[in-house]
Amino acid sequence: MQFNSIAKYYTTLSSLVFRSTLEIAKTSLFAKIPEGSKILIIGGGTGISLRALVQLKPRAQIDFVETSEQMILRAKRKVNLKPSVTFVQSPIEGFEGGGYDVIITEFFFDLFKKEKIDQLIPTIALKLNPKGYWIDTDFRKTDKVFHKILLSTMYLFFKITAKVEGGYLAETSSILSLNGFELVSQQKFKSGFISSCLFVRP
Ligand SMILES: C[S@@+](CC[C@H](N)C(=O)[O-])C[C@H]1O[C@@H](n2cnc3c(N)ncnc32)[C@H](O)[C@@H]1O
Repeated sequence: MQFNSIAKYYTTLSSLVFRSTLEIAKTSLFAKIPEGSKILIIGGGTGISLRALVQLKPRAQIDFVETSEQMILRAKRKVNLKPSVTFVQSPIEGFEGGGYDVIITEFFFDLFKKEKIDQLIPTIALKLNPKGYWIDTDFRKTDKVFHKILLSTMYLFFKITAKVEGGYLAETSSILSLNGFELVSQQKFKSGFISSCLFVRP
């Protein structure tokens, strides 16, 4: 998988298609994050929501783990090298940090095949404190034909440009629930095509 080649166009392309909806969705549950939390952002891309998080939660300690050097470069510019943010260029699979109060994944799991997601979720969950929050924002299945066409087009684009291995909409909620998480809050956008979900372990 290689997002370096599209990092330059990523934000422009997503706002051309979705205007500000993705940013609004990604940040819609941030107000629920407790002050002073230790937060892990996985695959945070160009850092649009990182910037919002830093503004909203200035006392948070944030680790931003991302494989693409070009994405990290752009995310760094968004927060002007704040000491409270640590950038780690690594796949999450090789990142050893833990003890987080909040984990944030956004438009991340549909990069992978189902078997990989089944492995990733419990591995990532080990990094979260027992009472921690997991905020996952992504596209969700609807029965609208237009949404299906849009998703197939996006996945084809990412397969060609970023060599994405997945390319289908994972049922993240059910995998998280199999791993002991419960959905406690959800914000829906575009008739449920996009939603931000807050999970905890009861
Ligand atoms: C579809 S983009 C989403 C970016 C951002 N979260 C957003 O919502 O705009 C997925 C991001 O995950 C990164 N990524 C891919 N595989 C990863 C991995 N194994 N660990 C961490 N980041 C990864 C990519 O480089 C890319 O920036």
